[in-house]
Amino acid sequence: MSCLLLQDKFPDFKAETTKGELSIHEYFGTSWGILLSHPGDFTPVCTTELARMVKLFSEFEKRNVKLIAISLDSKDNSLKWIKDINTFGGYDPNAPLPYPIIADEDRSIAVKLGMVRPGAVSTPGLPLTARHVFVVDPKKILRLVLIYPASTGRYFPEIFRAIDSLQLTEKYGVSTEADWKPNGRVVVPEGFPPEKAAELFPDGVKIEQFPSGKTYLQFGEMRKCQNKIITS
Ligand code: BEZ
Repeated sequence: MSCLLLQDKFPDFKAETTKGELSIHEYFGTSWGILLSHPGDFTPVCTTELARMVKLFSEFEKRNVKLIAISLDSKDNSLKWIKDINTFGGYDPNAPLPYPIIADEDRSIAVKLGMVRPGAVSTPGLPLTARHVFVVDPKKILRLVLIYPASTGRYFPEIFRAIDSLQLTEKYGVSTEADWKPNGRVVVPEGFPPEKAAELFPDGVKIEQFPSGKTYLQFGEMRKCQNKIITS
């Protein structure tokens, strides 16, 4: 079984989806990408998640993130399931979803991504370990993995918070602290270039005082415009 680690190249694969065949690298293109896996069609928690993903689709778009789902089921089933998903979300049952669902009926993609054990490929019933979140950057590097058991639906505000952190820290070379939220103070690494610090942190950088006398934790409030951190 392949074990994908952060910073690995996300594997490319061809897949049959509810919107036709695609290659995952081509689908993500030059955007960030997110793949959310689902144990099977017509399952209760997955139905709530996929309806939520319709509602939140524009939030992914705002962040330049291409969204795709994968279900370990057939394309035929997934196409029928879409009506239930739309109905649960309060949408037109016959409307297409704004994102594709990969039909991974033979579980080969799930095995490739390390979501199920190869031995579980032909186990009848639903594999219970396949509620994964993979976030991939525009260079197709794996940047975040979250794994939930089938019984626990995902918390989308945390997924957006993590994407916001990834994109902010990538752009400015900073880090985000425990419970950070967008527009919160950021962690400034030691050795951060002073000219860049002066530009990004108009109120300066605050060094935490520790018994050790070490200066490894410092915070900065990023320059804001109309209450939003300037990101471009
Ligand atoms: C669910 O989506 O509710 C679910 C899927 C697989 C196993 C258990 C629950």
